[in-house]
Amino acid sequence: MHTTVPGKTVTIADLRHAIVGVGTPVPLLDGSERPYIFLDNAASTPAFRQVLDAVAEFLPWYSGVHRGTGFKSLLATAVFDGAHDAVARFVGADVPSNTVVFTKNTTECVNKLAARFDFGPDDVVITTAMEHHSNDLPWRKYARVVHCGVLPDGRLDLAGLRDAIRRHTGPLRLVAVSGASNISGLVQPVHDIAAWAHAAGALVFIDAAQLAPHRRVRMLPDGDPGHLDFVALSAHKMYAPFGTGALVGPERFFRRGAPDAVGGGVVDVVTLDEVHWNEPPHKEEAGSPNVIGGVALAAAIGVLEQVGMDAVAAHELDLLEYAYGKLRGMKGLTLYGPTDDLASKVGVITFNVDGMPHALTGAILGAEGGIGVRNGCFCAHPYVKELLRVSAADDRALTAEVLAGNKTRLPGMVRASFGCYNTHEDVDALVAMLERVVRRDFRGAYVQDISTGSFRAEGYAPDFSRYFRHFSAMAPAASRSHSEAS
Ligand SMILES: Cc1ncc(COP(=O)(O)O)c(C=O)c1O
Repeated sequence: MHTTVPGKTVTIADLRHAIVGVGTPVPLLDGSERPYIFLDNAASTPAFRQVLDAVAEFLPWYSGVHRGTGFKSLLATAVFDGAHDAVARFVGADVPSNTVVFTKNTTECVNKLAARFDFGPDDVVITTAMEHHSNDLPWRKYARVVHCGVLPDGRLDLAGLRDAIRRHTGPLRLVAVSGASNISGLVQPVHDIAAWAHAAGALVFIDAAQLAPHRRVRMLPDGDPGHLDFVALSAHKMYAPFGTGALVGPERFFRRGAPDAVGGGVVDVVTLDEVHWNEPPHKEEAGSPNVIGGVALAAAIGVLEQVGMDAVAAHELDLLEYAYGKLRGMKGLTLYGPTDDLASKVGVITFNVDGMPHALTGAILGAEGGIGVRNGCFCAHPYVKELLRVSAADDRALTAEVLAGNKTRLPGMVRASFGCYNTHEDVDALVAMLERVVRRDFRGAYVQDISTGSFRAEGYAPDFSRYFRHFSAMAPAASRSHSEAS
């Protein structure tokens, strides 16, 4: 499937207007509204309008795929299979020697891969201390995991990684590294790492959840020493939030053994005694697949390819330079990770306002600035604690507090993360609000919830049903009975 925008080439300048919901007015604590500034793109991006259009245009043709005989099923099957090809093209995978498996997100990709590796008890996976838990915990479940450390400035200890790969040659089966960090934004030299892994007889997996939306991913030809054996990505971080992830890897890898999930669609023939598996990727996509998610991802890829990933990277570097230019010198603000050599980062900035809980800063930015950021440990607890220099003793004490149900002192940071559509004005709004927070120039009285650690401004209780018509039908039971009672 190759999605293009009819009649027009999309450029980086068009992307602001290609975002569904950009600038939507949101309520502030003082009762006014302001256009929302979304700086939490590393968690999940809004949708491209072209994605929404493609989904809307496809829906009348929507049908189950692969075994239907009617026209709609034939069309839907061609579109869904073509969406797999779009992903292969986007990451530069050799086909047909590689296959694209659709999942629901990167987390599911890594769990699948870990389950499919068939590790022996002594097999080693090397990953790093800066990973998202999704590229750490699944390996811990099945293999002996060695974590490569980080340097005091937050960079990956590449010399240590290379050394660990050499030392574990033999039992080492896989090196699993994120292409870009969701905490520091640091981009790894994935092809060098792949070459080191291959020289040790191991394979390499790149968690591209934070890389694919921001940089060109090149798996390189199969025989190339820097070839990436496996790559995973999430569509909801790529302007296509319709529940699809993709795992790309060698077809022969998925051909051997049994799939991790079994059921409909994964078989060629079943008798009461025998099961013969279907070809990849069908073998790996048990049950009825998310066809709409595939359409959405392929449409997003079409837009990103039109704009060009080099243009996306250049725009995001410009935003980083502009933002760090303003934030580096701000008194009362601590920035984490390297703040120079910005070309080695994707658009992620982590910080704390000195003396202020990260959750409180996040709450003020939201309630008084209309700015969406994220705070906490971002599913990468070891790396965040390393950057915060939490001592082992403090870590033990804080863990005990959390386990006792008190999250008020949970360590963490605030993260602002850019998408390809953010602007200097978005950065200006963030900087202006941070200047106020640093001066303690905020209006609200904020109360902390002990069990979550999050803060809420007293009196900030927007009526969600004013903003989303279907809210009352979908509200959590507690708030529904509350609104019914009021
Ligand atoms: C680097 C990295 N890897 C993996 C994931 C998991 O992605 P998902 O939640 O889409 O499964 C994330 C999510 O933030 C991430 O940032």
